[in-house]
Amino acid sequence: MIPILDERIQQYLEDLEAKRDPIAIEMEKLAEDLDFPIVGPQLGSLLYILTRSMRAKRVLELGSGFGYSALFFAHAVGPSGRVVLTDTDRSNRARAQEFLSRARLEDRIEFRVGDALELLTSLKGAFDIVFNDIDKEEYPFVPDAAAKLLRPDGLLITDNTLWGGRVADPAQLDEATQGVRRYNELLAADTRYTTVLLPLRDGVSVSLLNGPVG
Ligand SMILES: C[S@@+](CC[C@H](N)C(=O)[O-])C[C@H]1O[C@@H](n2cnc3c(N)ncnc32)[C@H](O)[C@@H]1O
Repeated sequence: MIPILDERIQQYLEDLEAKRDPIAIEMEKLAEDLDFPIVGPQLGSLLYILTRSMRAKRVLELGSGFGYSALFFAHAVGPSGRVVLTDTDRSNRARAQEFLSRARLEDRIEFRVGDALELLTSLKGAFDIVFNDIDKEEYPFVPDAAAKLLRPDGLLITDNTLWGGRVADPAQLDEATQGVRRYNELLAADTRYTTVLLPLRDGVSVSLLNGPVG
């Protein structure tokens, strides 16, 4: 593994993490107890800021788990917004619905159980944001599918794009690492999008679906 940030910098960032609602903290505790991967508070804040700053109202999540990242989106889209959650694991739906109801955000969410890549083809756009956090070997299928659903100047945001630093280690040839590597290369070459890969936590890509300028 190649460390993404010096551990002193990582600690410094964690010490500065924003105050957040008690439900978020409860979900972080559950993730720790279950050893379940969630975006964490730093990326959660970035999702919130991006959503609010573009006044996004329609967000599609690919891989929602029990709804932690969706909590940030649901707060940010406001009362007239909508967040579509997807996950293959049915048991995540009940947990997500419980947490988001307790946060009084149930009216803003819709949870679809199934393969996000299959659901993508049945959904109608346009979405302001597609958030990608599914199994890493499936990442290369996402840019095309997302481009069909996003509005011009919409964002495709993807977690784990540095994948514990393994993407930068040529000896790492497992399917997940290859999937993330391929994904990063596809986006770098894709002229439909303008992409930046931020070394925040496990790496996050923000890709703008280029609309007309002016
Ligand atoms: C990293 S977790 C998501 C965490 C969530 N985004 C958060 O930060 O709170 C990945 C989730 O994606 C789901 N998943 C993986 N591949 C999927 C697919 N093809 N379609 C739908 N869900 C998928 C898994 O069941 C798991 O719950």
